[in-house]
Amino acid sequence: MSGHQHQIIFERLPDVASLSPSEQELLARALQATDGAYAPFSRFRVGCAVRLADGSIHTGNNQENLAFPSALCAERTVMYHLGSHGLAGEVRTIAIRARSELKEIAQPVTPCGACRQVLVEYERMSPEPFVLLMQGASGDILRMEGVEACLLPFAFAIDF
Ligand code: THU
Repeated sequence: MSGHQHQIIFERLPDVASLSPSEQELLARALQATDGAYAPFSRFRVGCAVRLADGSIHTGNNQENLAFPSALCAERTVMYHLGSHGLAGEVRTIAIRARSELKEIAQPVTPCGACRQVLVEYERMSPEPFVLLMQGASGDILRMEGVEACLLPFAFAIDF
């Protein structure tokens, strides 16, 4: 069978040493953002920090609800906020961190499928692929370039 291949290039880093100061700051801000999570049900707090083209940082966190499906992930909370302020095309770098009130999260946390689809759509509005940084409360960091290229190849797309 003849086929095609899709290669995903990513870095798995043991610490922040090889990251730029700007990326280190964004990871720190994502962890800080977990403080604002409303997660009384899962006790799993996610923070997402976004760097825009002008250098500014914007953050969001997961917001749960007694009616479980009404909850919103950290990534979509901040991306929809930015979109609602006309900043959809300005996103450049995204850091995602998580900590649990129940146990140590020492492995990188990656976005859920629904958030990937949303991130892809915002990435398509931007002039360049997003840089993504993912980490738990501690431990290795995943770094990759391109939501669509690395996290959601063949994402849904349609021309209305
Ligand atoms: N969560 C996020 O905020 N982002 C993700 O990408 C995956 C999961 C939240 C949703 C819920 O509040 C908690 O983490 C546990 O699933």
